[in-house]
Amino acid sequence: MARIIQITDLHVLEDPQALLKGVNVRWFLERVVDQLLAQESDCDALVITGDHTHDELESSYSYLRDLFAPWNDRLYQVPGNHDERRILRSVFASRISGRDDDLVQFAFEQSGWFCLGLDTHDSGNVSGLLTQGQIAAARQQADASGAERVAVFCHHPPVQLESEWMDAIGLHGAEHLRSWCESDPRLQLVCCGHVHHESQHTCGHATVLTTPSTGVQFSPLGNVPNFVAGQPGYRVLELTEQGCSTFVMRINDVATPVP
Ligand SMILES: [Fe+2]
Repeated sequence: MARIIQITDLHVLEDPQALLKGVNVRWFLERVVDQLLAQESDCDALVITGDHTHDELESSYSYLRDLFAPWNDRLYQVPGNHDERRILRSVFASRISGRDDDLVQFAFEQSGWFCLGLDTHDSGNVSGLLTQGQIAAARQQADASGAERVAVFCHHPPVQLESEWMDAIGLHGAEHLRSWCESDPRLQLVCCGHVHHESQHTCGHATVLTTPSTGVQFSPLGNVPNFVAGQPGYRVLELTEQGCSTFVMRINDVATPVP
């Protein structure tokens, strides 16, 4: 069995004391990392699905590189809308290949699963972008791997969340990923962030999951951005040759303030 940890939407700021919607994002993240060090130091992969920083400053990315050093040999990343590919790539140069503004993607295999990170960052926009060419290349990689199961990790979910304000900042080109989910029984998992809360949907053969932020939490209710009290969290994925089980872990003694 392979144990994969997904964390998302860290939104780190340069100032260690700075608050984002009343949340000290660095302090919250450090509590998440404390729990990961205690419980997941030997996980097989740690995947960050975007929005590493809120200010997109080099110093904020450097702080994250140092914080996640214990997992550096198993760290995989894709950018979110709150990311800058050039800085992300330069600070995490030991993990991210390519040049300049090239897509930041990854691929690895664990326990018969081909795990693939897709870059949905669309510079200047909160919404995401996925092209037909990205999906065609991803399918080729999956074919070449020979793996029986495929898991995709990306920032923006490819499904409607039935939330007026979240769906307005969704994923352009989601139909390309949805069509892969519908036509390929190997594609069984799509793990996303962006929406700062836990959800589960079905798309074709795949279960589409979103995962809470390590800091600020959102509610899908309402028609304007809705920040809510809640505990930071991360997702555990247990991958086997037979399938996957998954659950969200929360940091029990930490809660975001009531907005
Ligand atoms: Fe975010």
